[in-house]
Amino acid sequence: MRYDFDTPVNRRGSASIKWDYGKRFTGLENLLPLWVADMDFPACTEVIEALKRRSEHGVFGYTLEPESYYRSVIDWMLRRHGWAIRRGWMVSAPGVVPSLNLALLAYSQPGDGVVIQPPVYYPFKESIKNNDRRVVENPLRLDGERYTMDLVQLEEAIDRRTRVLVLCSPHNPVSRVWSPQELEGLVEICARRKIIILSDEIHHDLIMPGHHHTPTASLSQEAATVTVTLTSATKTFNLAGVGCSLVIASDKQLRERYHTTQKRICTGIANAFSALAAETAYRQGESWLEQVIEYIQGNYEFLTAFLGERLPAARVIPLEGTYLAWVDLRALGFSDEQLKERVLRRARVWLDDGPIFGSGGRGFQRINLACPRSTLKQALEAVVRVLG
Ligand SMILES: Cc1ncc(COP(=O)(O)O)c(C=O)c1O
Repeated sequence: MRYDFDTPVNRRGSASIKWDYGKRFTGLENLLPLWVADMDFPACTEVIEALKRRSEHGVFGYTLEPESYYRSVIDWMLRRHGWAIRRGWMVSAPGVVPSLNLALLAYSQPGDGVVIQPPVYYPFKESIKNNDRRVVENPLRLDGERYTMDLVQLEEAIDRRTRVLVLCSPHNPVSRVWSPQELEGLVEICARRKIIILSDEIHHDLIMPGHHHTPTASLSQEAATVTVTLTSATKTFNLAGVGCSLVIASDKQLRERYHTTQKRICTGIANAFSALAAETAYRQGESWLEQVIEYIQGNYEFLTAFLGERLPAARVIPLEGTYLAWVDLRALGFSDEQLKERVLRRARVWLDDGPIFGSGGRGFQRINLACPRSTLKQALEAVVRVLG
């Protein structure tokens, strides 16, 4: 079947973080939101039907992820990513950010160093600081329009108390899909310096045409022994409000250290809807996903053409993965406060400000492309009016 991503769905009044809490988060109302990473599209029909059937059953007692759920993940990883995982490698978790925090507790002590590569998804830094670990920055390099990991600088940044590196693969917000060669270089350093890689691959299915995602742990035996993968069906299939995620580690010791930490906060019980939604999506949602990727690629092309014509000083970083466009507005000459004043307060368009992603974010804005093209157009019209 052909999905309709063009018709806007009114999300106001659904307790949506993106649409309903402008006042709470920014002090402003009536904003057009293209910030937080969820999609404005309905989930695939099969998921909606499965959740309807489950809710009509009416009894919502204690629930556990069934074996069929894990099987669907194994099949998906093999089919979509060429990664042969086993049931015993997986630990079910309540979300990627919660499991990132737990993994930091499992693999490091207060005061230990944890590497991040900014500009990067801001909860990475928050998780490190909230758990009294030390943020070690290895900023990405921007050469022309392409971001790369600086492995020479990484070697220098690591010290005796650096225990963990949090990798964002694909990388939010710069949208890079790391190549096997780049990942191999990273793994070689981390293995030699005894650093555990927490590979956040939540965006792994949102890969634009011409690019290919490589799960870090699938690279080699060496990679598998230093990597713990954090993943979920929620980003792929727009199920963030339903929840659930997975921690995958083939190394028994790494897995048990994580599991022991998670057990301390007793997150063993699932909710009645999450695994059902994820399994249904993995088994029946592939066509929806293909169509969503095509639509997002179309929105990215629309964005580059629109800005090319109406705001040529803006530079859109090529979108390799995720549905988050990273736009360089530095050539316009505004300070970050001026950008915010114009975009948020005057144009009433709610984007994510570059500086929240840390070093290298100044002068950038992140735009969520997972919305109907008409919404994107409305937002861009308003933005170019205040920036042009
Ligand atoms: C890189 C990355 N990790 C994790 C998350 C959120 O994961 P969860 O909702 O499972 O906590 C996001 C959401 O935007 C993300 O971009």
